[in-house]
Amino acid sequence: MFYHLALGALAAASAVEASFARNLAYSSPSRRHPTLAVPLAHVSKRQTGDLFTPAEVDFTHGVASGDPYADSVILWTRLAPTADSVASDLVPDGVVPIYEDNGGAEPSSKAACVEFKIATDLPLSNVVDKGRAYTTSDVDYTVKFEANHLEPFTTYYYQFNVCDTNKTSPLGRTKTIPSKTQKVDRNINLAVYSCSNYPNGYFNAYGNPVRKDSVDYVLHLGDYIYEYKGDSKIGRTPLPDREIYSLYDYRARHGTYKTDADLQASHAKFAWIPVWDDHEVADNAWKNGTVNSNGDVFRKRKQAAVRAYFEWMPIRQVDMDDSLRIWRSFSLGTLFDLMMVDTRQYDRDLTVLGGALGVGGNSPEVEKLVDLENRTVMGFRQEAWLYDQLTQSSERGAAWRLVGNQIVFSRMALGILNDRPFNRDQWDGYLANRDRVYRHLATHQINNTVMLSGDSHASWVSDLVWNDKAPYDEDTGAGAFGVEFAGSAVSSSSPLGKDMPNPLTKPLSQYLIKKNPELQWQDLFYRGYFELSIGYDALQARFFGIPDVRVRSDDEILLATFVVNSGENKLARNPTVGGGVARAGALKNGKVR
Ligand SMILES: *[C@@H]1O[C@H](CO)[C@@H](O)[C@H](O)[C@H]1NC(C)=O
Ligand SMILES: *[C@@H]1O[C@H](CO)[C@@H](O)[C@H](O)[C@H]1NC(C)=O
Ligand SMILES: *[C@@H]1O[C@H](CO)[C@@H](O)[C@H](O)[C@H]1NC(C)=O
Ligand SMILES: *[C@@H]1O[C@H](CO)[C@@H](O)[C@H](O)[C@H]1NC(C)=O
Repeated sequence: MFYHLALGALAAASAVEASFARNLAYSSPSRRHPTLAVPLAHVSKRQTGDLFTPAEVDFTHGVASGDPYADSVILWTRLAPTADSVASDLVPDGVVPIYEDNGGAEPSSKAACVEFKIATDLPLSNVVDKGRAYTTSDVDYTVKFEANHLEPFTTYYYQFNVCDTNKTSPLGRTKTIPSKTQKVDRNINLAVYSCSNYPNGYFNAYGNPVRKDSVDYVLHLGDYIYEYKGDSKIGRTPLPDREIYSLYDYRARHGTYKTDADLQASHAKFAWIPVWDDHEVADNAWKNGTVNSNGDVFRKRKQAAVRAYFEWMPIRQVDMDDSLRIWRSFSLGTLFDLMMVDTRQYDRDLTVLGGALGVGGNSPEVEKLVDLENRTVMGFRQEAWLYDQLTQSSERGAAWRLVGNQIVFSRMALGILNDRPFNRDQWDGYLANRDRVYRHLATHQINNTVMLSGDSHASWVSDLVWNDKAPYDEDTGAGAFGVEFAGSAVSSSSPLGKDMPNPLTKPLSQYLIKKNPELQWQDLFYRGYFELSIGYDALQARFFGIPDVRVRSDDEILLATFVVNSGENKLARNPTVGGGVARAGALKNGKVR
């Protein structure tokens, strides 16, 4: 599939021989897009045999693995000439043009050579795959290998080194997923994250499952980076110190984020399955713009953001002809199918760009669109794929269907100005699309669907309810189509602001669960994450709160625990939702203490 270029000149000039093509960073996100593809032929021709010496390079940002399959996994690192996130010889004003074959600046013609090996044991003696490749400034010195010949649902260890030397990266651990038809002999555990804002706080939430060694895989539902200028009260100002637009900017920003020790630890210990939300590009992105960019500025910004994302994340490109596609799926034995969707960057129709509660900005305009049948949050191509995935998963008899999604799916009404939903940037702004999801679940009698969501910086646990179309009993859960777990942020501020404790959080949570029948638990106070433990008979979600993200710490509080029994399509009531007790927020029919 990939073309392997043996480099005559380079090989002659040194003992090293490697390929560019084995480094997937060169072919991702696209091999064909005029500005997203790095033309390999050009890159390899440019090399003059000039390799960085081992002393000139370092593994600057740890190691990572991602998108595990039953027989392969993506391994990531960065082998760069300086400890900076971006090579120092790049244009200093930060305006590196996106590579063009004849017009683009060529920052450095030197290559670094990197090898990887992956083994079943420590210290890496039973090696099952290895390889070597070059990396250059064209891909910001990032390195992505696909490690093959792996066994399903098996733990592996991996490491990179500078070719033919003992100069090594940190050690990584990863795990393949079960093969599609495999009966899984124990629960599979996931940590689910969203909204990690570097200047706002430490990424303690990433580190805790590492310290507990509590999960098999990590999901990130987006807002892995933020594009704003830093403004940090705790000395975590990210590079560059301005709002980001160019390729240089996005690379440098990813570079800063990946210096966080807890993030590095999580990447080194767990295979990640990430999707982006808006801030990997910019605030409230939709297909044709963001809050503060549109037209040509937006197009260039998005290209830069997408390219940097694929360079810096251990993610596969599942469709080489569709550089924007990150929606993809994973089959974890007969236990569950995981569909990671993109409700943000792929093909989203107009969203709110300023204003709130239907007032101000373009809110009145969006308010007129929300009911349109032809409106979509993910594009019709992706919608068709999602419905097909849900059906296939149900027909093949996988016990559960998990949908990793950015924005909160369930209706959220404030009931102050009127009874209409107040955040049209969530699924509440794309009513026909949400109806089509419910209609599909209903028509095909698809059971055990669990929606996972982020974006909102608060916790929301709901039964999936087809409002106004199917009856629902909030006390028993009868009539629900599944469950939604929407998690809080790793470190982004509560929607009620940074200054905690905020005396308004609890009364507002209590108000919200009264106004929204399907909303069973809500909390606005804690930053955090949740862990899912998935078995054939039941699935459990445990929500963890991080008391203070202004300091690095392993403190966390188990806020609430929820169970979903197979076949019930609702949160278990034993005796009421969440076992009747939560440590924060407001719990329907339960106590908070
Ligand atoms: C790597 O380290 C070992 C042990 O220190 C040494 O014997 C060997 O020569 C080194 N190999 C290279 C290529 O430097
Ligand atoms: C998208 O943006 C371009 C450039 O600003 C504009 O010409 C076009 O009309 C926009 N399309 C939509 C659907 O808004
Ligand atoms: C969507 O439907 C509305 C109302 O029928 C129509 O005005 C609009 O042009 C349609 N938009 C698209 C993109 O087809
Ligand atoms: C979903 O559950 C209902 C109720 O138990 C059952 O009638 C239906 O056949 C199930 N759907 C599938 C696809 O198995």
